[in-house]
Amino acid sequence: MMPPELLNRIVYLNGEWLPLKDAKVSVLDRGFIFGDGIYEVVALYNKKPFRMEQHLDRLERSLAKIKLKNPFTREGWKDLVAKLAATLPDPDQFIYFQITRGVAKRDFGFPSADTVPTVFAITSPFEPVPKAQREGGLSLIKLPDLRWLRCDVKVVSLLGAVLAKQDALDEGVHDCVMFRDGYLTESSSANVWIVKDGKMIAPPRDNLILEGIRYGLMQEMAEATGVPFEVRKITEAEVDAADEILITSATREVVAGTVLNGKPVGKGDYVGKPGPVYHKFYAAYQDAKKRLCG
Ligand code: PDD
Repeated sequence: MMPPELLNRIVYLNGEWLPLKDAKVSVLDRGFIFGDGIYEVVALYNKKPFRMEQHLDRLERSLAKIKLKNPFTREGWKDLVAKLAATLPDPDQFIYFQITRGVAKRDFGFPSADTVPTVFAITSPFEPVPKAQREGGLSLIKLPDLRWLRCDVKVVSLLGAVLAKQDALDEGVHDCVMFRDGYLTESSSANVWIVKDGKMIAPPRDNLILEGIRYGLMQEMAEATGVPFEVRKITEAEVDAADEILITSATREVVAGTVLNGKPVGKGDYVGKPGPVYHKFYAAYQDAKKRLCG
């Protein structure tokens, strides 16, 4: 059941602003039939989008990779985000928008070039990571990465991620870290980083992970805080032996993974607790929010 507040929330659909309960899409929409579309999730602080240019860059990359024309200019997207943010009183929000290949007769080949893409956008109050998770970190399980080989594209076909997340929830933990051919990829809807002997290690930005908008930010924060940063493939054994595991996404910002397959992560004073590099990055992230969004 959807709460009345949500049903009455103003959303954007194909040029119209209307309550969510009245926003309808054809059952033949290719997003519904094939998962043929892409999306973005943008955090807003003080109603200002955080790293909007980078989101628009990734949106353009995703659209190009699925061969779909951008329905708006960059200014058009910024305008849409500003108008949507104004519909809620909350200073901190997150905006979800998606573009699908539009409505057409069901056919695996692309529809005719004059098919109009479906554009949907909704904003929600930002829900910070609960205090217990912020302070105690997340419990995680290891899972095989069973998703497709184009995880670099932010597509709405997310069943692999949905099943991974549910496997984690069914195990009574918060989320998962996934491995393909013995190497770390990412979490169900977040990037994963490890820390070993004071160094941050990141999986490469290849086709096996989504390059989060926080990827570049992590590099910048590593430089600013003097934490060495290395990009390379990370083995499962290295994740098992990590001093710290960090998780990043628009909605979680940066959070520690403190239990892995039932075993506490880390060493010394920080066993099973968010570690010193996490604390540095959390503080740097809050500074970045202030710097970019006031
Ligand atoms: N997910 N990897 C995957 C598979 C993701 O789905 C996400 C984000 C990320 C992190 O990307 P970013 O830093 O740009 O949020 C990495 C969003 C939050 C979602 O699907 O809701």
